[in-house]
Amino acid sequence: MNGLVIIGAGGFARETAQAVHDAGDLKLLGHLDDNPALYGTEVDGVPVLGGCDLVHDLPEARVVICVGNPRDYAARARLVRRLGLPTDRYATVMHPTAVVSATSEVGPGSVLLAHCVLTAAVRVGAQVAVMPHVVLTHDDVVEDYATITSGVRLGGGVRLEQGAYVGSGALVREGTTVGAWSQIGMGSGVLGDVPPGEVWVGNPARRLRAAGAPALDELAKRTEQWGDR
Ligand SMILES: CC(C)(COP(=O)(O)OP(=O)(O)OC[C@H]1O[C@@H](n2cnc3c(N)ncnc32)[C@H](O)[C@@H]1OP(=O)(O)O)[C@@H](O)C(=O)NCCC(=O)NCCS
Repeated sequence: MNGLVIIGAGGFARETAQAVHDAGDLKLLGHLDDNPALYGTEVDGVPVLGGCDLVHDLPEARVVICVGNPRDYAARARLVRRLGLPTDRYATVMHPTAVVSATSEVGPGSVLLAHCVLTAAVRVGAQVAVMPHVVLTHDDVVEDYATITSGVRLGGGVRLEQGAYVGSGALVREGTTVGAWSQIGMGSGVLGDVPPGEVWVGNPARRLRAAGAPALDELAKRTEQWGDR
């Protein structure tokens, strides 16, 4: 059985630890977290082994990065870049109650929590967080680093561009695109395309403001790296 370390020891990391426990196919070695106050402690009975860079001293361990929150949903992308691990170090964690159709795919480093459903031909990229009871329907495309929080439902053919964050219980109309590093507020109803780097809320969803600084920094990096597409 492969050993796994979870980077982060906060809420999402602890939820992922429970999914690993329930799935039973990976041996959870512990959490790594940059808060020195946690070193040598346990969270939910799982040891915090040390800081994130300890991952380089555990070359046999598979890894998932489970950090971030609604104010800094770019944190996973920064850690991936900082750690510079090869793609094959990253595990894909799926709770045993997640339903992933045979025609769907999920990339490395991504986590699917309990009772999420990928109906048909859904493509989920790398380092994507999918929280409980999310429903992704036919032909949805979820790009790398996106965060989809609990109870979100995407209509068919929706695209979440890189790093997009969709708040709890939001609904996204079929065929709609949410731009890179944009954030949708909890409970919103998204009826049309959302540009990159913006926060939209309400039903029907409207622009609230520009995304927070960490998300805008990541958006700028994407532009540097790939140019306008
Ligand atoms: C969208 C969001 C990021 C905005 O946060 P913020 O910038 O701190 O916004 P504020 O709380 O200052 O609210 C600003 C305005 O937007 C409104 N607003 C905020 N979130 C809203 C939402 N989800 N739906 C409708 N209106 C919302 C507020 O009522 C307020 O309106 P007002 O100016 O008329 O009073 C946040 O409210 C949100 O929804 N985060 C996601 C939470 C979530 O899904 N968590 C799950 C995982 S932990």
